[in-house]
Amino acid sequence: MKGKFIVIEGIDGCGKTTQVDEISRWLPSSGLMKTGSKLITTREPGGSLLGKKLRGLILDNNENNKPSSLAELLLYSADRAEHVSKVITPALNNNDWVISDRFSDSTLAYQGYGRKINLEIIKNLESIVCQGEYPDLTFFLEISPLESILRRKNEIPDRIESEGIRFLEKVNQGFKLIAKQKNWKVISATQNIKTISNEIKDTILNNFSSDK
Ligand code: TMP
Repeated sequence: MKGKFIVIEGIDGCGKTTQVDEISRWLPSSGLMKTGSKLITTREPGGSLLGKKLRGLILDNNENNKPSSLAELLLYSADRAEHVSKVITPALNNNDWVISDRFSDSTLAYQGYGRKINLEIIKNLESIVCQGEYPDLTFFLEISPLESILRRKNEIPDRIESEGIRFLEKVNQGFKLIAKQKNWKVISATQNIKTISNEIKDTILNNFSSDK
């Protein structure tokens, strides 16, 4: 028996983190999880102890520390390999549930569709890095690139967030394609927080109620 693995994806500012918080308050009392199993909320980059250090390196906005596209891909991959080995697999094997703010399809969207690194290279790397661990359910919180920029206009951007609207448009297009191919649950993230979280909860109930 393994726990369930749920992922929330979307471009910067789509409200993933808020929804991870909303869902993590509800899920343990939803009746879906087995008695004694825990809910682990996590994120990428930065879901493991080493990953927290990698996150600082990856998102550093200092021009002198900017990695090449290939180095960036490998840093996100290193973060994920450690995250899977040390956090995700142990939790799922323990029958715990995991909700992650981003996972491997962020690499496909940002480094593949955004940076234009060959998608086959990314998929090959993913098959090593994910070690057989793939989400049971993925949500795509959809906002436009313009909305993403407007929502974050008073924040200091990290290195990826500084890329601007053209880059975000490519990433967003990538996410839309992946969502269609992988049959993700797509939710318009311009709705209010409660409406979005209710849609997420209903989808989780529909997907997992019969597994109990
Ligand atoms: P966050 O803001 O969702 O924490 O993610 C940090 C940034 O890292 C965000 O701009 C998206 C980017 N990112 C990638 O470019 N590739 C990846 O594989 C992941 C997980 C995140």
